Amino acid sequence: MSGVENDEPTRPEPSIGPLTFAIGVAVLLVGLIVSPLVIAPLGAVIALAAGFLWVRSNRGAQHPENVHPEAAPATNEERFPRSRLLERATLGLGGVVALGATLPAVGFAVLPSFLGQRRRSIDLGPITNFPVGKFVVATFLSDPKAGEVSRRAAFVRNNGPLGTLPSFTIMSSRCTHVGCPTQPNGPLFFDQRKAERTAGGEVGLVPSQPSGFGCPCHGSQFDTEGNRTAGPAPRALDRYEFTIRHGRLWLGRLYSVSRVDATGAQARIHSFPLAGDGQPVTGLESWLYPISPPS
Ligand code: FES
Repeated sequence: MSGVENDEPTRPEPSIGPLTFAIGVAVLLVGLIVSPLVIAPLGAVIALAAGFLWVRSNRGAQHPENVHPEAAPATNEERFPRSRLLERATLGLGGVVALGATLPAVGFAVLPSFLGQRRRSIDLGPITNFPVGKFVVATFLSDPKAGEVSRRAAFVRNNGPLGTLPSFTIMSSRCTHVGCPTQPNGPLFFDQRKAERTAGGEVGLVPSQPSGFGCPCHGSQFDTEGNRTAGPAPRALDRYEFTIRHGRLWLGRLYSVSRVDATGAQARIHSFPLAGDGQPVTGLESWLYPISPPS
């Protein structure tokens, strides 16, 4: 009589794949809310890696060398056990959920680069309208087709030449807290106002002599470089890129700034891609800040 025989079918080694996959999907979903650019991709990577390993471990368990001869399926019903069907259905469903959650975020983040994000330049007129060392409050249409509702203001200071190149400080008047229009803390010389006719509509130019800029909504204060000095705003005033073409000053894209060291033409600007209202651009808060709706 032979020894004791084990009639138990050989079971695949327990895998941590499903659990890791579920954790990856959970991290992905949480990341889409709190940090779509850092935590969400991390979750996607975890989910994909876990899913891959899960599938591989399943395949390994199915390989003939890994199947005990006495546990080999004898009938068609056993070749496709219910547990495997459920496992694959879970994996497939998880993949669909992960794709459904990831694709819109990836689309919003990536597609604008391919579709040509609107890069509208705004003509502010001849640079002679901007005396060296003085602030001018320029108002302009950010979208001429939309008309006056798109009128915006920028604080423009001609810093004089930097080597052979002209230097301008051009800050958006929009408060970085929740977007109220900040005002110069100092006189506005409306009697010296100029109106410049451009292809993009009328540009208003009012000289000013501010000691800083203040927000009437919740009291944020900014110095003449746009650094936040008080209040709930999370960063400095946003700035415009600029170009000078044929002696005229053109505004380019907006970008965000955490802080500015030094002043005028010597300023060292700590710049970031344009952030949303209330969004910090440095520190732990910038990682945890929720997704902002496009503005
Ligand atoms: S919007 Fe400026 S302080 Fe709140």
